[in-house]
Amino acid sequence: MAHSALYDLHFLLIPLFLLATIAPSIHQSIPLGTTIFAVDENSSWVSPSGEFAFGFRHLPNNDSLFLLAIWFHKIPERTVVWSANRDSPVQRESRVELVNNGHLVLYNREGREIWKKPKAINARAASASMLDTGNLVLLSMDSSTIWESFNEPTDTILPSQTLTKPSKLSSRRSEKDYSKGQFELRLQEDGDLMLYTVPLEGEFTYSNYWSTNTAGSGSQVIFNESGYIYLTQINGTSVSLTPGNIVSTQEFYHRATLDFDGVIRQYVYPRTLDSTVGWAQSWSNVWYQPPNVCLAVFFAIGSGTCGFNSYCALDENQRTTCHCPPGYSYLDPNNTFGGCKQDFVPQSCESGGSIEASQFELKEMRNVDWPLNDYERYFPINENLCRQECLLDCFCAVAVFKDDTCWKKKVPLGNGKMDYGVSRKTLLKTPRGNLTLQTAPPPTSSCREKKDRTALILIGSVLFGGSGLLNLLLLLAISMVLLYSRHQRKVRFQRHDASMLGIRILSFTFKELEQATNGFKEELDRGAFGAIYKGALVLESRHLIAVKMLDNVVAEGESNKEFETEVAAIGQTHHKNLARLLGFCNEGLHQLLVYEFMSSGSLASFLFGSIRPNWNQRTQIALGIARGLVYLHEECSSQIIHCDINPQNILLDESLTPRISGFGLAKLMKADQTRSITGIRGTRGYVSPEWFMDMPITAKVDVYSFGVLLLEIICCRRNLEMGLENEERVILTEWAYDCYAETRLDLLVENDEDAKDDLKRVERMVMVAIWCLQENPTMRPSMMKVTEMLEGVVEVSKPLHPYSTSSVFS
Ligand SMILES: *[C@@H]1O[C@H](CO)[C@@H](O)[C@H](O)[C@H]1NC(C)=O
Ligand SMILES: *[C@@H]1O[C@H](CO)[C@@H](O)[C@H](O)[C@H]1NC(C)=O
Ligand SMILES: *[C@@H]1O[C@H](CO)[C@@H](O)[C@H](O)[C@H]1NC(C)=O
Ligand SMILES: *[C@@H]1O[C@H](CO)[C@@H](O)[C@H](O)[C@H]1NC(C)=O
Ligand SMILES: *[C@@H]1O[C@H](CO)[C@@H](O)[C@H](O)[C@H]1NC(C)=O
Ligand SMILES: *[C@@H]1O[C@H](CO)[C@@H](O)[C@H](O)[C@H]1NC(C)=O
Repeated sequence: MAHSALYDLHFLLIPLFLLATIAPSIHQSIPLGTTIFAVDENSSWVSPSGEFAFGFRHLPNNDSLFLLAIWFHKIPERTVVWSANRDSPVQRESRVELVNNGHLVLYNREGREIWKKPKAINARAASASMLDTGNLVLLSMDSSTIWESFNEPTDTILPSQTLTKPSKLSSRRSEKDYSKGQFELRLQEDGDLMLYTVPLEGEFTYSNYWSTNTAGSGSQVIFNESGYIYLTQINGTSVSLTPGNIVSTQEFYHRATLDFDGVIRQYVYPRTLDSTVGWAQSWSNVWYQPPNVCLAVFFAIGSGTCGFNSYCALDENQRTTCHCPPGYSYLDPNNTFGGCKQDFVPQSCESGGSIEASQFELKEMRNVDWPLNDYERYFPINENLCRQECLLDCFCAVAVFKDDTCWKKKVPLGNGKMDYGVSRKTLLKTPRGNLTLQTAPPPTSSCREKKDRTALILIGSVLFGGSGLLNLLLLLAISMVLLYSRHQRKVRFQRHDASMLGIRILSFTFKELEQATNGFKEELDRGAFGAIYKGALVLESRHLIAVKMLDNVVAEGESNKEFETEVAAIGQTHHKNLARLLGFCNEGLHQLLVYEFMSSGSLASFLFGSIRPNWNQRTQIALGIARGLVYLHEECSSQIIHCDINPQNILLDESLTPRISGFGLAKLMKADQTRSITGIRGTRGYVSPEWFMDMPITAKVDVYSFGVLLLEIICCRRNLEMGLENEERVILTEWAYDCYAETRLDLLVENDEDAKDDLKRVERMVMVAIWCLQENPTMRPSMMKVTEMLEGVVEVSKPLHPYSTSSVFS
């Protein structure tokens, strides 16, 4: 390797008193042709006093990379105050050379030019000098300065340095990463001195977060030799940045740095131990701006001080710290300012988020806020509903509640801050508990889902096929899941606890529902089990609800528990053809259920109203209802018999998908009540014959009601239509059989061209309906069979007359 010129003046015998002063007059001239190699940190050009040096330094975060820099040479920290190649560090054996043509050039290991001063080809330096001020200068033949590092500051200014318009300091990225960061201090052309955030890549300027407000009057920023920093103004006055008196530059080293947290700070470091008793041998901060950067950096776009999904706080020494909320971790573990990432699989958006809502919970974060990430707001609303809104929405990462207002926030979260002034309640969505075993079955599901069964099979096969240790771990994990689920069950019914019922349904007070329905003012319907009222949880129409007030509530005590057990079972159901239960109220004699409000109303109003759905829509609706019933009858661990299938109980959503509502209510009634005539659960005209006889009530009662409904869907008329001229048409179920027997099905769909063109399907549907209407329940097909017949995947055999087997009952 070539000789590296060693200009280290460290060991020169300079009288001690000289070291304690700034002596810019002493020049140590560095001639042309001098080179420093990036080998170790000892090769450098040192200022005459030995206080500053220019050369290569290892990057703190990568020993094999070098920074061409100027640093405080006498303090152990070797604090870097300037660098030439912060964004392109060079490898070992790169070199900086004061080339014979008069330029100071940094070459990388391959000999390529990385950096060159002065830039102009015809500007030529005759020598260089590292001054005791920390300024590196290139001098011409007549000793005038043709370039100086003080005119191109990086993130630090030093006593005797002046910033002229326009100039800027730009922070480093993190404590150990010297590359350009996201903050700038600018002395603008207009004279204003401002702090800005900038993106790490690309050219864009966010708004400023601090300013001296000297536009039009500001002139220069001066860091004078006594250690005072001020902004001079055109009229001769100045705005002081250094407040009050400051320790002398005789006894202390001074610097002002725009730190990587976006704060401009002035620091001092004692030159010797003797003269500075009581001062630590380290950099002490004497002032800083802005007062609280966590609160100052606050823009609609951009991440804020700490990066996305993070929050900013000041520690007891006024240092800025960045924290990841629970469930999040630093994107780069070596840089806490780089933001945080989610450590969990985000909530699935299937059904908007409700499917997985039970797997998430809301954690209260004290004094923490992300002020600008709102995408939705509700007013007025209570906290309970605010929580529910967030949990049921896959986009919601944080809910903030204050007074009667709820804000929903999305990721990435920006401008996070911790501040004791935060009086709002911040609720962060995180996965529930400590489960990392994603394949585990959900703790409290009474309805089976294909997904979960595969998971169990998977666990099973891994258990028997895997290694012993793996099995042990899996067993541990599974038992944890089981423990967890047992715990879940215990806490399930605590009032107003958002975690109850695995989130799917919430508990309301009677008063809340009274308010939500405006005192039960608007009655939507009155069914076999009670009246339904329209309500609103918030003003927006999206949050309209339907509140069902159950009649004939039995006295408190055991029945209240049963009610909640049933509600829990209903809450476990989810199928696209079932109405979603949002919550309930169980206060003494008040038992109410809260459903989402369906904008298209009930099938009854649709079917029998003036604008009828077309034939194709009707066949789809029929099929949807059948599928919903299959789910209730066959896919829940304890079968749910609806007992009151009628067009009033079928609701339609915006896309005309039928949603069965009111299911699960039959069991809420006292057992003996369901048997008495007065207690028949069902609606006149849809009730199957066994209700009137001493027969067990089975799922087949729903099949019967479905048969009636199916005919109504085919014909767009009610089962019973009094006052018809044609008397044999009054009861649809009887007339339909007659039409079928006489092969005059066209009469049933007289005014419906589409259906008349599809008579084969009309016939199949009518045949299915007649099967459903068999008086003998055992003759009725199951809903599964009904679905298959409607879908056309199985043949429909010729139905018998509905009363042909009535003798069974006599
Ligand atoms: C560099 O200097 C330090 C002390 O200043 C010394 O310990 C080290 O050996 C030197 N390294 C080389 C390569 O000269
Ligand atoms: C250090 O830098 C070198 C050269 O760019 C690179 O190959 C190496 O991976 C870096 N090491 C670390 C720990 O980042
Ligand atoms: C630096 O500024 C301060 C405050 O404005 C002043 O008191 C002091 O004399 C100045 N020092 C020099 C060397 O100009
Ligand atoms: C100088 O200019 C500043 C800003 O415009 C103003 O506030 C101040 O009063 C002026 N002072 C004098 C002495 O004119
Ligand atoms: C963090 O720094 C250490 C040492 O400097 C390095 O080994 C590690 O790779 C770094 N991690 C990341 C994620 O950059
Ligand atoms: C999660 O599990 C780990 C290991 O079993 C345990 O150390 C930790 O405390 C648990 N955390 C919570 C929040 O329960």
